[in-house]
Amino acid sequence: MSNPFAYNDVYGVIRRHVSPGLALGYKLVGHGAYEVAASGATVRLSDGRTLVDFGSYAVTLLGHRCPPVVDAVATQLATMPTATRAVGNPVVAAFVEELADRCGAGLDRVWLGSDGADAVEVALKLARRGSGRRRILAVEDGFHGKTLGALAATAAPAFRAGLEDVLAPVTHLPRDDAGAVAREVRAGDVAAVIVEPVQGEAGVRPLDASVVARWAADAHAAGAYVISDEIQAGLRRCGSFSVAVDTGWAPDAVLFGKALGGGVLPLSAAVGTADFFAPLVDDPTWHTATFGGHPLSCAAGRASLRVIDELAGRADELGTRFARDLCALAAAHPALVCEVRGRGLLWGVEFATPAMAGSVLVELADAGLLVSPCLSSRRTIRLLPPMVTTEAELRRAFDALAAALVATEEFAEGACDADVGDAA
Ligand SMILES: Cc1ncc(COP(=O)(O)O)c(C=O)c1O
Repeated sequence: MSNPFAYNDVYGVIRRHVSPGLALGYKLVGHGAYEVAASGATVRLSDGRTLVDFGSYAVTLLGHRCPPVVDAVATQLATMPTATRAVGNPVVAAFVEELADRCGAGLDRVWLGSDGADAVEVALKLARRGSGRRRILAVEDGFHGKTLGALAATAAPAFRAGLEDVLAPVTHLPRDDAGAVAREVRAGDVAAVIVEPVQGEAGVRPLDASVVARWAADAHAAGAYVISDEIQAGLRRCGSFSVAVDTGWAPDAVLFGKALGGGVLPLSAAVGTADFFAPLVDDPTWHTATFGGHPLSCAAGRASLRVIDELAGRADELGTRFARDLCALAAAHPALVCEVRGRGLLWGVEFATPAMAGSVLVELADAGLLVSPCLSSRRTIRLLPPMVTTEAELRRAFDALAAALVATEEFAEGACDADVGDAA
């Protein structure tokens, strides 16, 4: 049977109808080939090559086409893929209950969306409405999405450019300043502090748990809410189902997305306390989205939660080995690598220059490994091994890393020689 997705001019169309820069970037990484199929941590390209996928922007925690997730979606597709939203739906109800159960700690109210920014939007609206205050405190370099409300909390100048005057009031706190929340709440009007326990797009920077604990305590003492954005770091990617709950920050809301739909369907959630959710409990139409709580996504989400539970031990073990081997490899290239940071299955390698990071990214694809760049840190590449990574995929990934570092080092040495020559 012919492949219905076969298409000769993928990059021409992306160039003409989306963005020339995006087409060029894709083409460079794929060597002109495009993606056609995937399974587990492996992606197949149109030219027959396969790549190990440690990227996909944190969506594929369970790999591609995780069988129980695909089966659950297929079953739902064959029965009732969409919701009337006029009467209750058991798939949506069951998912909501199972998600809240895993959060515990009084986090028993749930709102469902599709993208991470959806969950951030509703959380920021709830915090402002519930507190009657306007200001949000976020963290330097923090990333929370690009819709207007979420963008106000996102620190990246490139994404805020040209819009500063329409963004809601958000103060970005220095990452290591434990007294920052106490100082800001004294200035008044603070509705909430929003944190990412591990800042993914900022270059994979785990926040200091004791600093966040102090921020959370100071926020609560001032009647402000604490929101933990775990859209990237939660769901056991960094060990805990919710880092904030496990670390004892007593969050009023935890946000999930990306891998929540099992790498099969888009799904996000804000899970919060009854107090935080009061405006929505009073009036559930106050913040809605047509496809929020879509039965196909909820079927995927329910199956995903179970697979995440099952693979938790394997993920911990994989994360420990991955960290050890990545640090050892990086230590062998001190002229390239400045720092390796991360936790669990979320790691960042920071290079001396953005050019080195770019070169490693392309060399890695050539050698068989896909990774994600960090949107707010051009010197860092991000490695997101799925929980289901096989031994063979892991070996292939490390072989590719070793080859890409050597190739970039040789190239960088040449570049430095040329610079010296030019200067002389
Ligand atoms: C921590 C965090 N919050 C929010 C978002 C926004 O999610 P989305 O791109 O699905 O809207 C992201 C996306 O990378 C994220 O990493």
